[in-house]
Amino acid sequence: MAARGCAELAQSRDTPVASRARAGCFSGLTPRGGGGRAASCGGSISGFQAAIRCGPLTYGLVQDEHGIEVEGLVREFRKGPRAVDGIDLTVEPGDIYGFLGPNGAGKSTTVLMLTTLLPPTAGTARVAGHDVVREGPQVRAKIGAALQEAALDPVLTGREHMRLQTALHGIPRAKRRRRGDELLERVGLVEAADRKVGGYSGGMKRRLDLALALVHHPTTLFLDEPTVGLDPQSRTALWEEVARLAGEEGVTVFLTTQYLEEADVLADRIGIIDHGRIVAEGTPGALKAEIGRPSVEVVPCAVDKQEAVRAVLADFGDAVPSSAGAVAIRLDGGGGDLPAVVRALDGAGLKVERLQLHEPTLDDVFLTKTGRSLEGDGAGPETADGAG
Ligand SMILES: Nc1ncnc2c1ncn2[C@@H]1O[C@H](COP(=O)(O)OP(=O)(O)OP(=O)(O)O)[C@@H](O)[C@H]1O
Ligand SMILES: [Mg+2]
Repeated sequence: MAARGCAELAQSRDTPVASRARAGCFSGLTPRGGGGRAASCGGSISGFQAAIRCGPLTYGLVQDEHGIEVEGLVREFRKGPRAVDGIDLTVEPGDIYGFLGPNGAGKSTTVLMLTTLLPPTAGTARVAGHDVVREGPQVRAKIGAALQEAALDPVLTGREHMRLQTALHGIPRAKRRRRGDELLERVGLVEAADRKVGGYSGGMKRRLDLALALVHHPTTLFLDEPTVGLDPQSRTALWEEVARLAGEEGVTVFLTTQYLEEADVLADRIGIIDHGRIVAEGTPGALKAEIGRPSVEVVPCAVDKQEAVRAVLADFGDAVPSSAGAVAIRLDGGGGDLPAVVRALDGAGLKVERLQLHEPTLDDVFLTKTGRSLEGDGAGPETADGAG
């Protein structure tokens, strides 16, 4: 076989940003628990990033000794599904918990219950040491939340929102302006601060919503799909800010997402939810290690050779979903089988356009647990309007 496909052999999806984040090496960030401060103010970076890296860091450590403890939590809608179907989870204080799942999985419904906005049908949940049903006011005093649909008033400016929110949280009048400005700077909205929110882009609204969630130094932060609508730079900057809040300030973060990379990069632990049930739980590394073996994906030069390639690959493992025009299997013998695969394809006279090794990803974990893929065609359909 011509070896041209082999030149493209790559371990896909092992993003540098993921490994840098995991190592706590984002520029301007110190490793988790390092207690240091953002340092770099140089270079050409976006307003949001600049704010994060250069903005004033005037918070004290707000870590709570309690995280989040959920047991048997259920929410059944009268004319709808059992949206959350008996979930158990624990989030350690100061950890980032990534709640990953497709449309309609039950993520927002869980967030609404944990933020006291929706009563559970059954089960218990304690957030920052307080029961969400019996101690709602105490929970609300300690948490911040940026929900899926930001509750913003289009006729108010960003600064007016901050003024209102700081007043609602009882921040002394003399400190309100400073706190509001500090957070507007942190999320890169200084220039837009006096514009009406009705004219903000989707990403600007998400950033304002995050700033509003932080005014009272919450010990626990809920973020429901916080990076939807953000451009890549703003998304990375938000990841940095969330990592900083947890790492430097000890904030416990419960973050929902449909993005595998987001959960992989940010979360200390991940819960994968599907149809209201947690189907997998653990650190990103442990979840992927459970899958263990990599897969190999082969694109034949000729479309009509797909079946022949499939037949050769069948000797090396079971088929897994692949991209269009490709054939993929999970390698029974791991990455060490790759030379034998190449020899077998060559021996069968099959010319290959591309041959790629994929290390296990969180999507493989999702696929193994649910039989569907979170990415691409296999993602589950939205069953009805979401709660968020
Ligand atoms: N108020 C409601 N009444 C009836 N059904 C509801 C209600 N809110 C949510 N649901 C249903 O509960 C299920 C879970 O919805 P939820 O909004 O929690 O999902 P999600 O994981 O946040 O999805 P998405 O990623 O689309 O935001 C869905 O089937 C949804 O249609
Ligand atoms: Mg949702």
